[in-house]
Amino acid sequence: MKLYAAGILAILNAALAVSATTTPAKRATVCNGHAELCERSFGAVTYVGTHDSYAIGAASNLAVNQDQDITTQLNDGVRMLQMQAHNQNNVIRLCHSTCVLLDGGTLETYLTTVKSWLDANPNEVLSLLIVNIDNMPASAYGAVFTKVGLDAVSYAPPSTPLAATAWPTLGAMIDSGKRLVTFLDNQADTAAVPYLLDEFTNVWETQFNVIDVAKFDCSVNRTKGDTGTQMFLVNHFLDKVLLGQPVPFVEQLNVTNAASGAGSLGAHVQTCRDNQGRAPNFLLVDFYEYGAGSVFEVAAGINGVTYAPTTPIATPRSANATSGTGASNTTGGNTTKGGNGAASAFSGNVIGSLVAGIAFACSALVL
Ligand SMILES: *[C@@H]1O[C@H](CO)[C@@H](O)[C@H](O)[C@H]1NC(C)=O
Ligand SMILES: *[C@@H]1O[C@H](CO)[C@@H](O)[C@H](O)[C@H]1NC(C)=O
Ligand SMILES: *[C@@H]1O[C@H](CO)[C@@H](O)[C@H](O)[C@H]1NC(C)=O
Ligand SMILES: *[C@@H]1O[C@H](CO)[C@@H](O)[C@H](O)[C@H]1NC(C)=O
Ligand SMILES: *[C@@H]1O[C@H](CO)[C@@H](O)[C@H](O)[C@H]1NC(C)=O
Repeated sequence: MKLYAAGILAILNAALAVSATTTPAKRATVCNGHAELCERSFGAVTYVGTHDSYAIGAASNLAVNQDQDITTQLNDGVRMLQMQAHNQNNVIRLCHSTCVLLDGGTLETYLTTVKSWLDANPNEVLSLLIVNIDNMPASAYGAVFTKVGLDAVSYAPPSTPLAATAWPTLGAMIDSGKRLVTFLDNQADTAAVPYLLDEFTNVWETQFNVIDVAKFDCSVNRTKGDTGTQMFLVNHFLDKVLLGQPVPFVEQLNVTNAASGAGSLGAHVQTCRDNQGRAPNFLLVDFYEYGAGSVFEVAAGINGVTYAPTTPIATPRSANATSGTGASNTTGGNTTKGGNGAASAFSGNVIGSLVAGIAFACSALVL
């Protein structure tokens, strides 16, 4: 009996040895939800991104751009998280224009959430886009990444910038465990922190703060590289002007986020395909869940995969500031989830800030 078992084991071991020489130890078969994407270069995939992902609250609060928490955003399919980072007494906080206006908490807390989600979802590649508004050194960000353990899962290319076609496949990134891609809009220094990549040498962007849907064109607005070969990002969030400042055009969201029609994300993407001869890599939107998944449908269409979520995506939080259903508690300028009816008080602050001339959608200074 013992001999028999040993014989079986020997055969099994031999079989394993053969397979080990022909296939990598670990091989992802589903990447970002689709088998088709495993063999696709990171730079040949389109991702939905959330503009000001941390600026979360009821849509009636003029300083917010999203109304779902980060874990929900990720679970629903968002694969780029954009954020604006501020230096508050040497602590990096995610705030909108100023931390008095909207304080989304510390970068460390935020990245801890991201790390937990990545750990729970090992077959997903995610990007972060950090607007380094106070020009902090890359090392300041690197310290936070290391503290929460994200350095271990961050992709550092052999050289940078990378052309869109030079990125590894999603499968290779997942297999290697290096499946977080982070861009800094300024102060990237890969000699100091190899995985914090310079945005504008790697990615170009279309115009932001659009208030006229005709401006959802596909002209290059910001770049520091070769737009013919770089990845590119479309800013597809519509603002309206209130007291001279751009604020999210919430009433128009179901049109803006739609898969087709004038002013829609789908139409914007088609314009890019016509003008640039290729589709954008990153689709940055506000209140992504308006449209009931339409933004993900657009990305899936570009990627040539079927959008078939296993669970329904989030429904918009009540836009009624006084309804009390999940409105943010923004007392004193700090936004926390689950407060009750405090958003209207915050709107008072917002109007005060507006009058004071502080832009809180995204001025040229503070995307
Ligand atoms: C980029 O867009 C901003 C508005 O968002 C505009 O003020 C600026 O002129 C644009 N720059 C270029 C080079 O198109
Ligand atoms: C947007 O919502 C309005 C009001 O519910 C509706 O009439 C309109 O058809 C919607 N548009 C799209 C593109 O879904
Ligand atoms: C919004 O809140 C106000 C005040 O509580 C209430 O009268 C109104 O019915 C609410 N509207 C919606 C759509 O919930
Ligand atoms: C916001 O929260 C931070 C950290 O919890 C705290 O240090 C700061 O004083 C708060 N700001 C206000 C205005 O309450
Ligand atoms: C909102 O936050 C403030 C400051 O932390 C707290 O005093 C207040 O009780 C909170 N209000 C609600 C409704 O949660």
